[in-house]
Amino acid sequence: MRPLHVVGVGPGDPEFLTLKALRLLREADLVAGFATVLDVVRGHVRGQLVTLTYRDQEQGLARLAEAARRGERCVVCAWGDPSVSAGELVARVRRAYPCVEIVSGVSSLAVACARVGAAMEESLFVSLHRREGGEEAFAELAEALRRGQRHVFAFPRPYDLMPAEIARRLLADAFSPTLPVTVLERLTLEGERAVALTLGELARRDDFGDLTVLFFPRQPEAERGRG
Ligand SMILES: C[S@@+](CC[C@H](N)C(=O)[O-])C[C@H]1O[C@@H](n2cnc3c(N)ncnc32)[C@H](O)[C@@H]1O
Repeated sequence: MRPLHVVGVGPGDPEFLTLKALRLLREADLVAGFATVLDVVRGHVRGQLVTLTYRDQEQGLARLAEAARRGERCVVCAWGDPSVSAGELVARVRRAYPCVEIVSGVSSLAVACARVGAAMEESLFVSLHRREGGEEAFAELAEALRRGQRHVFAFPRPYDLMPAEIARRLLADAFSPTLPVTVLERLTLEGERAVALTLGELARRDDFGDLTVLFFPRQPEAERGRG
């Protein structure tokens, strides 16, 4: 059975496409993805583009699965790295077609680490960007920050758990308004910015979009466990 490739296209700047991604995209008969994801790769695709929307993604993926069964080469594009906070898409592809190969890409998380000079092994990562289990993920975020032993990276959830709302909820959870947090927005893209704030300041900033990663540096040993 021919594998259907789920290919990571990187964090936005096409220079972060891997050589493997490029080859698979060029060779593919069908390439599917959400419009913003396809925008990164459009110029390299020779086959047919299948634009997925939240409403019709199941049909789009069924079309790809049918083509893969006929032996055509099919690619589903995922933003960043398919193994980072893209579980719902990957599961949907697996439900449509049983033979899936994940092709790693450069995650926005890796770029975030590079921008703030943090090592992944010294960090924890919590994604609030999920339909289910958002409350548990928020509790994990609060727990990780309370311990303060590791740097913490968090993806907000569009559009009910955006950066300012996360800050407000942490303040309501008795976190200090002086807790430092950096908002990394539009990494590798035009208009990229890194804004260093306190939690109290972030709670009053509603100007950040959904393409953001929050970075909470680990706490000095003396301050750990205080929240
Ligand atoms: C559904 S997740 C997918 C993440 C993707 N698989 C990855 O590896 O980057 C989407 C979230 O990732 C974060 N993100 C992705 N690309 C980003 C970028 N260029 N700049 C800032 N945040 C980004 C944002 O929090 C966004 O809401």
